[in-house]
Parts: sequence; structure tokens; C-alpha cells
Amino acid sequence: MTTDPLVVFTPSGKRGHFPVGTPILTAARQLGVDLDSVCGGRGICSKCQITPSYGEFPKHGVTVREDALSEWNAVEQRYDDKRGLKPGRRLGCQATVQGDVVIDVPPESQVHRQVVRKAAAARAITMDPATRLYFVVVEEPDMHSPTGDLERLERALREQWQIDAITADLSLLSKLQPTLRKGKWEVTVALHKGHKDSVARIVEIWPGLHENGLYGLAIDLGSTTIAAHLTDLDTGEVKASSGLMNPQIRFGEDLMSRVSYAMMNPGGDQEMTRAVREAINDLVTSIADEAGIDPALIVETVFVCNPVMHHLLLGLDPVELGQAPFALATSESVTLPAREMDLTTMNPRAQVYILPCIAGHVGADCAAVALSEEPGKSQDLVLIVDVGTNAEILLGNTTRVLACSSPTGPAFEGAQISSGQRAAPGAIERIQIDPVTKEPRFRVIGSDKWSDEDGFEADIATTGITGICGSGIIEAVAEMRMAGLLDESGLIGSAEQTGSSRCIPEGRTHSYLIHDASAEGGSRITVTQGDIRAIQLAKSALYAGARLLMDEMGVDKVDRVVLAGAFGAHISTKHAMVLGMIPDAPLDKVQSAGNAAGTGARIALCNIAARAEIERVVREITKVETAIEPKFQEHFVAANAIPHKTDPFPELAKIVTLPTPSFNTGGDTEKTGRRRRRKA
Ligand code: FES
Repeated sequence: MTTDPLVVFTPSGKRGHFPVGTPILTAARQLGVDLDSVCGGRGICSKCQITPSYGEFPKHGVTVREDALSEWNAVEQRYDDKRGLKPGRRLGCQATVQGDVVIDVPPESQVHRQVVRKAAAARAITMDPATRLYFVVVEEPDMHSPTGDLERLERALREQWQIDAITADLSLLSKLQPTLRKGKWEVTVALHKGHKDSVARIVEIWPGLHENGLYGLAIDLGSTTIAAHLTDLDTGEVKASSGLMNPQIRFGEDLMSRVSYAMMNPGGDQEMTRAVREAINDLVTSIADEAGIDPALIVETVFVCNPVMHHLLLGLDPVELGQAPFALATSESVTLPAREMDLTTMNPRAQVYILPCIAGHVGADCAAVALSEEPGKSQDLVLIVDVGTNAEILLGNTTRVLACSSPTGPAFEGAQISSGQRAAPGAIERIQIDPVTKEPRFRVIGSDKWSDEDGFEADIATTGITGICGSGIIEAVAEMRMAGLLDESGLIGSAEQTGSSRCIPEGRTHSYLIHDASAEGGSRITVTQGDIRAIQLAKSALYAGARLLMDEMGVDKVDRVVLAGAFGAHISTKHAMVLGMIPDAPLDKVQSAGNAAGTGARIALCNIAARAEIERVVREITKVETAIEPKFQEHFVAANAIPHKTDPFPELAKIVTLPTPSFNTGGDTEKTGRRRRRKA
């Protein structure tokens, strides 16, 4: 039996005997304990911090004496003086084994540290990005055994980090020589190795130890908005989140109008490609600026997007996606250098990964939702609805997962709504209408007070009240329905019919006045009949898509609903149900999940195994094409009523009693309204 001291690591519980004098980092590596190091044990990166514990540990069968580790050394002292080490911490590469010892590896010293999402159903992301930093000491050139600098760097990486093969492009090669000499043969390299790569690519090189971090972007490229999360590739922390409108809107608000723009205008697809790439370049600059980092430190970007955006981003003509059988140029994931896509404001050698598409109408954004929400691992039947210009819908459990996409249009994002706007300070995001007085009160982004509370005016003094955002319009329509201002068919009643002077005539229809500061030069915010129609079309498309999947699954109800989307977390589940956006379910089983597609992108950015996983999962998902399914139209028409023409919504009825007015007399009717809209 060995007399070598026993080293026990927590929390992993891994243990082994090591000769006196073995550095803790070496012991950790031999046991496969997850202990980080960028400098390779040279005492300069501080990534290897550990906490030794002393005393009796009956659980581990050891007694740890005060001298179980070597004494605090000069390297640790220097680090402590310069940067400060937390009390009780040691550097794992400096402290050596002297006796039996119990070593705790704190979370921040673990390579595969877990980052817990803030969302309600928190899912931990294990950090294992494709791009990592390595500090190496490279042999100096020697006239007697001539080798290139790159070859000596490769040898150093092999010897010091067991990295077999590397490759470097010309732009990196031109930096290599001056950087090696500037760093006095000590450099840090950022190596990218994707889950399918056999060779690591040098993305960047810095003289000495690089301590300014490494970043990646997770981008949810939607038809209406582009949302980006700047993520620290070491810690997984989101440093900044930013978004902007997709400039392609000027070529068409929805996907099909963009496809027809490409069909009708020679070169139109390239024009749209240019526009979106320019916007992403601007977004990279502004998000880096917001986080106070150099954009050249952004070395990776993961995109999730619907098929049309996918093609337009890659510079592929989307024409085939506009007609059956909706063939994609490729449904596989795509990995390529960012500069091939003219993304020039991040690191010039940054790599891009685009998640796989599920089908011609069901894109990488839906794959990202599947990665984030994991319907295939759910015991109960879960319906996941990712609300956007195109809704991604997934239905499934451990036996089977179905997916479709439904063209909801941009109404839920505040577009095509008369007073609609993006979710920005000044936008109405919550609204309540008193069922008796029919008077509204609301909340505006930028203030946590309701409009009838003291201090509201002061809070909004700088932003003003500028419009209604997506979650605001959903609440407004649902509240109008609950207050009896709107009938089941979606008609707004007149002042006489509703007893509210806020119902004002507008042509042959009526609008509901929420706020009027026009006398003081401010805004006048109303919900018009046209707004209601736009919301009805959007919610019917959403509901019909969900019903189609339920038909395919052979079920009439689902156990659970997850409402996701860029603003999914802000949608009130009750109001969504009153509107009939989603099939009826017990309200406590309807949950908001925030931007699931964006989260999926972030998971794929932080963990390369997740990329392999989603590529496998996508192949097992059954795709349902809404566009060619005749039942879609049937479901769509029935879903036009609020909440629904034929479905009684029994769970909703338990919590809300909806009034039953009918305003279909004298004013606008379904038919005349439709005729008028067609004319318009
Ligand atoms: S490994 Fe870098 S300081 Fe210990």
C-alpha cells in the first residue's frame, strides 16, 4: 500500500495518492478534476485557485494537518500583492502536496463551470466553448536547427497543452513574428476548435499573458428585430444585450414579402443581404462599446434565425423558400469565418456558427428553442410557442416532438399597430381597464408606477408616453374584451353601446382612447379597429399552428404551455389566454420563458457539445408544414373570435367571465370590414 499522501477534491469527490511535492494542479489533472489554467502552471493567470480545508474529515477518512500543503510562496505573494487572493485561497499550480489534504475547487476555478440562467425554469449551461485561451512559452529560433516560428509555436502547444495540430491563416501569420518577439517568446493564443474539427485554428495571438478576456455573440436574427447578447466565453456571463430593428423591413415586413422582393427585383436578395450584414456590423460595434470591450475580442458568433433570414444572412437566394416544396440550400448547421459574411467589425478571424434548420419553414430559431426548452425531455406534453413575426411552435414530450412555424406577422412586436412601437422607454407595456368605469390605467417602460399613482408624471418626464409595445397591445386588446368594449368577433363598440366616451368614432368603426396629450403637444394613443384586426390575424395564426400540431399528435389539450419570444417574458399569460393566442390550459401551467431562441443561441455559443446535441435532435423532430395543410385555414378562421369561436376555453372560464356584448349592428361588420381592408 502506498504511503503517499491522499488528496481529496471536492465537490467532485475525486481522490488519489500523490508523492510529496506534487503540485495540486498536476494532481487535479491526473485525476481528471476540473481545475482551470490558462498559463499552464506558471503562476500568472490565477485561474487555478483552490481552497484547502484543514482538520478532521471522517467522511473522507482523513485528517488534514496545517502543513498539508507547501508554504505560501513568492509567486503567490506577488499575485496577492498585485491582485489580491481571497482569504484561504491558494494557487493550485504553486501549492504542493505535503500530507493528506482536502481541496475544494471553487466554481470560478472550474473549466466547465456552470452558468445558471435567470429564467424561471433555470437551466444550467456548462461552459465548454469552441474558443479558448492558452498561454505558451515558445522556443527561440536557432540557426543550427532552423524551424519556423509557427512550427515552434505548434510544438510548444503540443508539449505544454497536448494540442496536436493547429492551423493559422495568412493574416495571423503576419502577426506571429512581431508578437512572439514582443512577448519575449511568451504568448497567449486563442484557439478555436469546433465539435467537428480535428485541427485547432489560431484566432488571435497576444504578447505575454492576455488578461482582457474573450467574448462571443449570440444573435437572434428575427424578421423584425435583431437581438444580440455579448457573452464572456470564460464565465458565460452576459456582458451586454442590445438589439435593433432589422433594416430589411424596408423591403417587406414579413418573410414572404421579402422573398417576393427577391423574386421581382434582380439583385434584390443581395441588397437585403448587404443591409442585414451592415446592421450586424453596427450592432457589434455598439454592443462592444456598451460593454466597454474591444470588438476585436469578439471571436465567435452564433446565429439563430428563420430559414429566409438564414439564407439572406448567408447571401443565398431565398426564392426556393417561397414555393413548395420549400427547399433549403442546406438544412445542416453552418460553420464559417465571419469575414466570409462581411462581418468585419469583430475579430478578423472570428468564427460563425449557425444552428441547423428543421425544414423549409422551420428554422434555426426553432432549433434554438428546442435546445433551450428541451421538449423531448419533458414527461408531460408541452406546447412551446416562440412569439415573433414568425412564431416557432413545438409540441412534444419524451415520445415525440413536432414543430411548425406560423406566419403571425409583426403585430405582436408592435409593428402594423397604429400607436405601436418597439419596447423602449416611453412605451406602454401594461394596461388595465376598469370593467365598470371603462377607464384605463397603464404602466410605461422606464417607470414602475401605474399612470394613476403619485410620482408617475415625474418618472416619465423625460421619456414621455410614446406608444404601445407588443406586450402592451396584447394586454390592451384582452382588457378591452374583459371590460366589454370589444365583442367576441373583435368589434369595438360605440360610446352608446359601451357607455364609455373613450370609444370614439373613426370612419365607420370605433377606436378606444388610452391617452391623449395632444393638446399639450404630446401623443394621442388609441387602439383602432385596424389594430384589433391585426392582432386577431396574428393570434389566429399562432393558435392555428398550435392546433395543427395537436391534431397531428392526436390530442385535444396540452399539459403545459411555455410562452417564449424576445418579449415572451413580458407577456401576461392571462391576457394571452383571454385573447386566445394559445390553446386553453390551466393558468398555473402557462409559463413565460423569455427569449428561448436567444437562450438556445447562447447555449450553443458556450458549449460545443450542445451544438452536436441539437444537430442530432433536429433530425428527430417531425416537421409540419402549415402552408400546405388545409386544416390550418379552418383552425385559423375559428380562432378569429376572441378568445375562440368553437373552443369553449373551460380553464379560462374558471378565472374570467367574459361579457357577451354584440356590436355588430349598424357599424362595421366582418364582411364590410374585410371588403374595406381589401380595398385599402
Ligand atoms: S495555472 Fe495559472 S496561476 Fe496557476
